[in-house]
Amino acid sequence: MSGGRVPVTLITGAAGEIGQALLHRLAGSRGDPIVTVDLRSLSTAGPGDLHREHFQGDILDSALWEQLLCRYRPTLIFHLAAILSTRAESVPVLAHRVNADGAARLLAMTADLATPDEPVRFVFPSSIAVYGLPSREAKEAAAPVSEDEHLDPATLYGAQKLYVERLGATIERLGNGLDFRAVRLPGLISSDTLPQGGTSDWAPELIHAAARGEPYCCFVNREARLPFCAMPDAVEGVLRLALCQKASLTRSAYNLGGPSLSAAEIIARVARDFPDLEVRFRLDRARDRIVAGWPGAVDDTAARRDFGFAPEHDEETLFSRYLIPGIRRRYLGDARAAG
Ligand SMILES: NC(=O)c1ccc[n+]([C@@H]2O[C@H](COP(=O)([O-])OP(=O)(O)OC[C@H]3O[C@@H](n4cnc5c(N)ncnc54)[C@H](O)[C@@H]3O)[C@@H](O)[C@H]2O)c1
Repeated sequence: MSGGRVPVTLITGAAGEIGQALLHRLAGSRGDPIVTVDLRSLSTAGPGDLHREHFQGDILDSALWEQLLCRYRPTLIFHLAAILSTRAESVPVLAHRVNADGAARLLAMTADLATPDEPVRFVFPSSIAVYGLPSREAKEAAAPVSEDEHLDPATLYGAQKLYVERLGATIERLGNGLDFRAVRLPGLISSDTLPQGGTSDWAPELIHAAARGEPYCCFVNREARLPFCAMPDAVEGVLRLALCQKASLTRSAYNLGGPSLSAAEIIARVARDFPDLEVRFRLDRARDRIVAGWPGAVDDTAARRDFGFAPEHDEETLFSRYLIPGIRRRYLGDARAAG
């Protein structure tokens, strides 16, 4: 206890895709109790015994933070709440308030809570949206992009992510005890949940549609290519970063990578298991343009070296061991998938 307040791990955006996967992963583990914040309620599955309280509300609401901070003292914060890439471009003012102002206020609150003797870890999921390749040709010619290259975001969302990364690193350098750590996530694919409002959503949407036996209308072109990571691998990477010793870190923001896949490659791979898959293409030019500027592959050498990021899934096992069995179980109740 510190000043009568209970030390906790705080997760904002806990009802979202990553939040649910993180809570699932933390259930049953040891550590401080968990307190969550989200506009939405948490699913009934819940995060197990560790979960202390859910605050349903807006991260922009000061009253929510007053209430939370008079009872709890966060020692580790996963700040996941955000408006995702595609949606952010269509509600720019709100996206700025949530993604930039909301994160900045939480960083300032964290810096107030922290002291050099009792630092507070602030883990921030950034995105490959911080990168901007100037053309499709440049993207095709580029080697896997490392953290200091092509930092020229083409979207508001990417600019907001880069701003928070830099703000966090700058406040940390002031030496008041904020311990800021960011990962730049690629497109994530989960066998359990479907994303909303993201630009890489075509891949998970297509795979889930295949399992439901529904046709899929793809909004990017066949050649559109991005790095993808299985949700459990990404969550494991985020946790490793959160829990590692500060001394082993050499940067404030790290790429997490994964197989580099085009829409055509994903369709061909999914059709091996779901041969009736039917995909039509109706280009969403705005989203297609965003994907064209994001790297097709990222270099995650630093994450592997500094905090042991070691994704379990490669291009083949992402499908054969994780996605296909998981979505078969989910939609077809296929007992054979359990093996
Ligand atoms: N999923 C991906 O592929 C991906 C890739 C790169 C980065 N990220 C980042 O990871 C984080 C989590 O992403 P996700 O995929 O779980 O997104 P998500 O949209 O599933 O979850 C975000 C959650 O934040 C909540 N939220 C939004 N505005 C809020 C507010 N004002 N107050 C309180 N809660 C609010 C939403 O209700 C939602 O539950 C985000 O910061 C996102 O930018 C995700």
